[in-house]
Amino acid sequence: MDDPEPKRARVLALVQRYHPGASSLLELGCGTGTMLEGLGGIGPLTGIDRSPEMLAIARSKVPAARLIEDDITTFELGEHFDVVICVFDTLNHVTSFNGWKSLFERAHGHLAPGGLFIFDVNTPGKLRGLGAYGPWFEEVAGVTVVQSVDPPVNGVSRWNVWIVEPTANGEHLGVHEPIGELAVELEQIEASLATAFELLEAHDESGAAPSPDSERVHYAWRRRSDG
Ligand SMILES: C[S@@+](CC[C@H](N)C(=O)[O-])C[C@H]1O[C@@H](n2cnc3c(N)ncnc32)[C@H](O)[C@@H]1O
Repeated sequence: MDDPEPKRARVLALVQRYHPGASSLLELGCGTGTMLEGLGGIGPLTGIDRSPEMLAIARSKVPAARLIEDDITTFELGEHFDVVICVFDTLNHVTSFNGWKSLFERAHGHLAPGGLFIFDVNTPGKLRGLGAYGPWFEEVAGVTVVQSVDPPVNGVSRWNVWIVEPTANGEHLGVHEPIGELAVELEQIEASLATAFELLEAHDESGAAPSPDSERVHYAWRRRSDG
């Protein structure tokens, strides 16, 4: 599984660089609170996720955060934040581009003017590449995690995760959790944000400018004062 520490460090570095006075943060798709757990230094934290099971874990990990069960493409909190983040490929889990545009609009509507919108995306190239690649395995805390990605259909790939655990009687129990992931060309993402946000930074996993070979791209945008 991905180490969350570099992801938290990346968010903290972007906030320090582009909005050092930021004092509130909203995470879209906070899941089990892995990111929020390391971001308390920014100020009050709010997380939204549609999964009550994920939020229950997040509540135990980050008791100080306000955690809300809602849809990240349609929520309305009636307040503004200095930073909105949507990371760990959460955007890819929204499987229509109209859903992405609604999420961008919600992020914009919940940012104070000048606020930061930080997100990452798996690229179409990454999902195509994984679709051509066989299953891969990891051992995590005594549990075997098997993953594979089906080739995309209309841009949406099925990402299969099997969690295989030993049972008390020596057998193995496998739970299959398929997740749909949509990947969108970077030009299309950038064009849909350009009116309301200013692009501050885009880089891939190696820290280089995004290229056709990039697997994941990290973005930092600033809400335009007039946008
Ligand atoms: C890849 S996980 C992100 C993990 C999370 N950032 C963490 O640190 O654990 C994606 C999360 O987005 C949530 N999600 C996906 N689509 C959503 C939607 N439309 N509304 C709310 N939550 C959504 C899922 O429930 C899941 O928790």
